[in-house]
Amino acid sequence: MPEGAIAERDGRIAWLGREADLPEMFRSLAPVDGGGGWLTPGLIDCHTHLVYAGSRAGEFEARLNGESYESIARRGGGIRSTVRATRAASEQELIDAALPRLDALLAEGVTTIEIKSGYGLDLEPERRMLRAARRLAAIRPVRVVTTFLGAHAVPPEYEGRADDYIEHLCVSVLPELQAEGLVDAVDAFCESIAFSPDQVEKLFAAAGRLQLPVKLHAEQLSNQEGAALVARHQGMSADHLEWLSATGIEAMRKAGAVAVLLPGAFYVLRETRVPPIEALRVAGVPMAVATDSNPGTSPLTSLLLAANMASTLFRLTPQEALAGVTREAARALRLPDCGRLEVGACADLALWRVPQPANLVSELGARPLVRSWYAGRPRG
Ligand code: NIG
Ligand code: FE
Repeated sequence: MPEGAIAERDGRIAWLGREADLPEMFRSLAPVDGGGGWLTPGLIDCHTHLVYAGSRAGEFEARLNGESYESIARRGGGIRSTVRATRAASEQELIDAALPRLDALLAEGVTTIEIKSGYGLDLEPERRMLRAARRLAAIRPVRVVTTFLGAHAVPPEYEGRADDYIEHLCVSVLPELQAEGLVDAVDAFCESIAFSPDQVEKLFAAAGRLQLPVKLHAEQLSNQEGAALVARHQGMSADHLEWLSATGIEAMRKAGAVAVLLPGAFYVLRETRVPPIEALRVAGVPMAVATDSNPGTSPLTSLLLAANMASTLFRLTPQEALAGVTREAARALRLPDCGRLEVGACADLALWRVPQPANLVSELGARPLVRSWYAGRPRG
């Protein structure tokens, strides 16, 4: 809105409208001049693996030389290589490693971020990852929500015994971490190189018993009907979705699950099969966009670049891409008070130097953020 004004009280949006209509009670407050920029909700990155140790640049080269992600995973690299580095790191080392990545996101106006565990794969290192993730919110002005991704890969000590590992997660690890208050949601990797739909079903049932909502890495490399599995459990979102089927779309529509698009992983793995965007659009399935920031398939710390890729590679309109990193990302995380400019919503705001909002999506590396606010307080 041109000539717009917004007022904040107690971390929430108290009023918004045309500046000329600003009620007298808000005029006395210390005003900030937007300088003709555009104001949006703070951005929301609803799918990340931001906390981890080590680097996988060597695998980047292996893939350039023709080796596939699956083949690297099967020979003990991939997720398992990050598991080795992460298990060896202290909570403080995990925080120190994650901070520059978090700062890059914050410098682009991100005010809420989801962070998954999944490189610990046992109680103690998964706990350390989740604690590190939660600590980040005490160190920086950002809202962090945590997701338990113990079912990311089978750890070496359970080699060939994936069912036993799932049982261990359901009976011991997940209930313990939930009791410690470290878990907001439960995720899994449903894929031929990870866990079967039956195994995920067991985990989701355990999550349900603990009243934790679920989401899933689904149909990234093949169609396992993971999206329908999420829908059966009234899950929050199904993420990736390159191989999503018509059945999956219909199930997501009925369940109100969000499709989280992760074009960074699609790009890095040089995938060629695009998620069925038009069918999702026609079905009215909400589409969010996230970085999937992780050391292997998406070493990406720019949510605006993810939005650009969602448009360039997946053909989202700029408006859809922007909604995908604000309103729909909030929906994916079930944070109804975030991701929108409305009275009563969180005063998480970003001010941009752009001629129109579409420039946020169309430009690469432009650094358009002027300033941002988290719960009404100015940042940095
Ligand atoms: O979202 N697909 C599985 N999990 C991550 C990759 C994690 C990794 O390779 O370290 C993803 O792409
Ligand atoms: Fe992921």
